[in-house]
Amino acid sequence: MVSIKSLFVAAMATAAYAAPTCQTNTPALPKTGGAKELEDPAANLVLKKIALGYGIQNYTCADDQAGTDAKAAGAVAVLYDVTNFYPGTSRTGIPQPIWDKLPETVLRFAPYPLNRQPGSTYGADPVTPFPKAKDVTLPAGGPTLIKFLGHHYFDASGTPMFDLNTIGLKASVVKKEAVDAPKNAYKGTLGTGAVAWLHLIDSGKGLSQGLSTVYRVITAGGVARACSVAGKGVQSVPYTTYYYFY
Ligand SMILES: *[C@@H]1O[C@H](CO)[C@@H](O)[C@H](O)[C@H]1NC(C)=O
Repeated sequence: MVSIKSLFVAAMATAAYAAPTCQTNTPALPKTGGAKELEDPAANLVLKKIALGYGIQNYTCADDQAGTDAKAAGAVAVLYDVTNFYPGTSRTGIPQPIWDKLPETVLRFAPYPLNRQPGSTYGADPVTPFPKAKDVTLPAGGPTLIKFLGHHYFDASGTPMFDLNTIGLKASVVKKEAVDAPKNAYKGTLGTGAVAWLHLIDSGKGLSQGLSTVYRVITAGGVARACSVAGKGVQSVPYTTYYYFY
């Protein structure tokens, strides 16, 4: 007779064998379909998490003249864990079209995730931009709850930092490559366009923990308004994206 225990052990062994793993560098990185793609992650890298980031890209304008470039000046975002929603993941995976549109869906329908700067529409509070850790809830039609994972910000030296504080991973990074987002990417709540896809690598400052490489892909929104529209000074533009952490 087969004992309950041995059935359980066998079931666990099967589950462990069949479970979707992040042991290799799959799921594969999305492609823009453009002339040049980001270089693939090195074969020895392990995908640890996929986050959905929701926040703002900052820019500064030296003046309000047409033709003045808005200069990138950092970003602040809340990170949510979407790893288990990846299409094909057993039980929790979501359909590919819903996955591909999730950054757009969150940007359009989820409430602004930062503490607002008083009197500003899109600006975050400069002292305490992050509210207490909170999951994001969405209308039906896809995942309705996405769990809080951590924070993205620029540190005092202006270096981008990803702090996945719920799981003790950190990435302090510099930009290695950038490619334009696809032309049909969601242009954001201000209609300015989707920021570039990025390949980011360890900054060498000794601040990373358990992570060495980050990709920003399937971006939505985040491009600056023209300085003639935004005016002189800092502007903050809402964006969402996926971050793949290796
Ligand atoms: C971005 O701008 C917001 C105001 O919208 C500010 O609170 C935040 O500190 C700025 N962050 C960076 C990295 O410049």
